[in-house]
Amino acid sequence: MRAAYFTTPLAEDPVNAIEVGDLDLPEVPDGWSRVDIYAGALNMHDLWMLQGVATVPGGAAHVIGSDGAGICEGQEVLVYPVLPTQGRSLAHSVLLSDRGYGLLAEQAVVPAGGVVPKPAHLTWEEAAAIPTAWLTAYRMLFTKARIRAGQTVLVQGAGGGVSTAVIALAKAAGASVIVTSRSAAKRERALEVGADVALPTGERVPELADIVIESVGPATFDHSVMSTRAGGTIVVCGASTGFTTPLNLARLFAREITVQGSTMGTREEFAALVDFIERHRIRPTIDSTVGLDDIRVLAKRMLGGDAFGKLCAVVR
Ligand SMILES: NC(=O)c1ccc[n+]([C@@H]2O[C@H](COP(=O)([O-])OP(=O)(O)OC[C@H]3O[C@@H](n4cnc5c(N)ncnc54)[C@H](OP(=O)(O)O)[C@@H]3O)[C@@H](O)[C@H]2O)c1
Repeated sequence: MRAAYFTTPLAEDPVNAIEVGDLDLPEVPDGWSRVDIYAGALNMHDLWMLQGVATVPGGAAHVIGSDGAGICEGQEVLVYPVLPTQGRSLAHSVLLSDRGYGLLAEQAVVPAGGVVPKPAHLTWEEAAAIPTAWLTAYRMLFTKARIRAGQTVLVQGAGGGVSTAVIALAKAAGASVIVTSRSAAKRERALEVGADVALPTGERVPELADIVIESVGPATFDHSVMSTRAGGTIVVCGASTGFTTPLNLARLFAREITVQGSTMGTREEFAALVDFIERHRIRPTIDSTVGLDDIRVLAKRMLGGDAFGKLCAVVR
């Protein structure tokens, strides 16, 4: 089968760690199912794997990709990207691709129950854009921040897969959305896909936010704290600009702000997300789509930081 994979991580050159070629079909463990993958998408996590940061079993060719959509036992499906947690909390979860079950290949294997039906209004690449980034956004907004209609959501960084998912989900939930971006072009695109206000990164917000979605880290964290209303919540799912940041403790306690970590989402949240997308006829924003053989083009674009929306690959 055709697959995108790596054998040796390259810390300084993750793009060139990617190989595309023919691999043997994956074996199907007891209780798992085979999926014919039609499309996949790339995430920052894939680049970390290619750099040797995320853990993978050593030696063999490791298929990359935690996002995939395809046909499983005759049904069109999206793959839930998280390995079953065996009763432990999601905080101990790993992605399928971390354990050698990557999805950017013509065939993949997934644990029983690890798929949900694909909404009929989505193309294959739109379906493949959803699992990792949209599940993360869904848990942040609905489970952690308990979003309600009429609230204001601030999203730091306008173009990422998580950010574009947050804009669409928060709008469908009846919230107003403020986004920040360093790029005028991305601010314009954010308004086109539904944001109400788009500001240059760090600029004062017109109204304090009930919910702040943080995936950027030190480059925006102080602005996030200063932009949260009294009693509001900052939900953190990433730290693209560094893992530690100064924190304005006076503002935090005086305003009774909650800072909440969030990672991926449960199988139940995944089913609820896909149902929400179907009910609201939401279509994910896609930056670009290539054939599997051109996957390095996507990786370069992700590293370049200019993308707006998900980077997808058609697999067959
Ligand atoms: N915890 C989880 O389960 C989970 C799941 C998925 C992703 N994540 C994490 O979430 C983060 C976002 O992932 P993604 O794939 O959506 O996005 P991405 O494409 O990596 O997006 C990065 C965003 O960060 C902003 N940014 C980057 N450098 C910046 C800087 N120096 N100053 C200000 N803004 C900066 C960019 O905003 P502008 O260019 O618009 O300014 C861009 O919108 C990553 O850290 C990723 O690892 C976590």
